[in-house]
Amino acid sequence: MERTYIMVKPDGVERGLVGEITKRFENKGFQLLALELKAPSREHLEKHYADLSAKPFFGGLIKYMTSGPVVAMVWQGKGVVKAGRVLLGETNPLASLPGTIRGDFALDVGRNICHGSDSVESAEKEIALWFPQGVISHNRVIEKLIYE
Ligand code: TYD
Repeated sequence: MERTYIMVKPDGVERGLVGEITKRFENKGFQLLALELKAPSREHLEKHYADLSAKPFFGGLIKYMTSGPVVAMVWQGKGVVKAGRVLLGETNPLASLPGTIRGDFALDVGRNICHGSDSVESAEKEIALWFPQGVISHNRVIEKLIYE
């Protein structure tokens, strides 16, 4: 079953949006496999965002991401990587539709409150980086109410 890495960024945690964000993934039917409040080091975040290291906003991004704790999560379900990005909205919150997390709660690209993996491959890499100890695998009894 597909898995994705979802993170509430420091502004989302500080603004009390952790419940709101997790609620949307739960409501949709996705299954929570891991959740932890973490204070990642600069080096850890530089690894997470390694693909963006040449971008002009990289320094500001790392500074913002180290400004407070984040909530790291793993969610599982059918099509969860793409569907998770749909729930999050566009990178630029002003281009995000109402009904999406960024569309409902954010204005600036550099304060867009949440992260979601952009492919199955990067999801597995990010899950390994944030949860090197692995995640809990469990069978939900409600599975037959979610999937045909
Ligand atoms: P990116 O991976 O392009 O977007 P997404 O988070 O939607 O996958 O960029 C990572 C983060 O970098 C993004 O969430 C916010 C920040 N960022 C900026 O601060 N300025 C920018 O111009 C861009 C494109 C991203």
